Amino acid sequence: MHIIGLLILLQAGLQGIECVAFYTEKPSYIESCRIYEPEFTKCSTRSIQAFMNQLIKGIPEIQESFGPIDPMRQDQLVFQQDNSDVATLAANLTEMKIRGFGQMVIKESKVSKKDFSWLTKIYLPTMSMDGMYKMVGRILLVPLHGAGKISMKIDDLNILMSTKTHLYEKGGYTFYNITSVKVKLEVGKVYTNMENLFNGHSKEVEKSTNLFFNENWRDLFEALRPLVDETVQRTLHDLLHKTFSIFPASFFVEDIPNSLTLYGRKSQMISRSSP
Ligand SMILES: *[C@@H]1O[C@H](CO)[C@@H](O)[C@H](O)[C@H]1NC(C)=O
Ligand SMILES: *[C@@H]1O[C@H](CO)[C@@H](O)[C@H](O)[C@H]1NC(C)=O
Repeated sequence: MHIIGLLILLQAGLQGIECVAFYTEKPSYIESCRIYEPEFTKCSTRSIQAFMNQLIKGIPEIQESFGPIDPMRQDQLVFQQDNSDVATLAANLTEMKIRGFGQMVIKESKVSKKDFSWLTKIYLPTMSMDGMYKMVGRILLVPLHGAGKISMKIDDLNILMSTKTHLYEKGGYTFYNITSVKVKLEVGKVYTNMENLFNGHSKEVEKSTNLFFNENWRDLFEALRPLVDETVQRTLHDLLHKTFSIFPASFFVEDIPNSLTLYGRKSQMISRSSP
């Protein structure tokens, strides 16, 4: 149990009383690094990998609010029309299950000294996404109107993740608020299957279309890239947001400045310039 070292804060907000629990003692599986010392990135890469390994094994407070890491769940994603050379598409994904993060390799974990944003290189030997889709539009000149199961398997996936953070204070500790996560994906090979592409009108055409799509998997992936990016981004954002609301930033970056020191001058300038 992790009861010792957890602090429960009761926050009286507009919505009533909210219970916020977080770690006040650094668990032994977290290695602290010092950003103002040399070789920080090396230390941070090792520290984040070890932390992720623990997260994959299961940290009770994260499992409670987020669920397991592998497979990860993402309930609903809505996409508006996306117009590109390869696709004109409106699509929704629901009940997504994402597998593969259990094998994640942290290749590099950089933190900016200026604004404490992160640049993280992650490698997954394979990632698969399974769920339900609804789609109207056109991919590789094929007009689609369907809803059903979608599955996609990506081999050799490199993820470049840019994370924006905002520091804040809670119970005497400095925390990261994860405000945005953007990913750039580089894929080795992609296999996709979509059932019911034409609302069940022709099983034969559906089969040959999936075949055609997979023969042209690079173009198909470009068409579906916004959907995949958004799925990965939203899932990682949820995970990181939850994780860093219960682990203080200073457990990872021992010499992190507090938010007043980091933003103090800036917010003074803002308040001075406002009427
Ligand atoms: C996706 O969901 C939204 C909101 O539920 C809906 O307005 C839209 O028509 C859906 N798109 C497709 C392609 O089904
Ligand atoms: C974190 O940032 C979001 C906006 O991105 C904001 O709505 C929220 O209040 C912030 N939380 C804290 C604890 O600062």
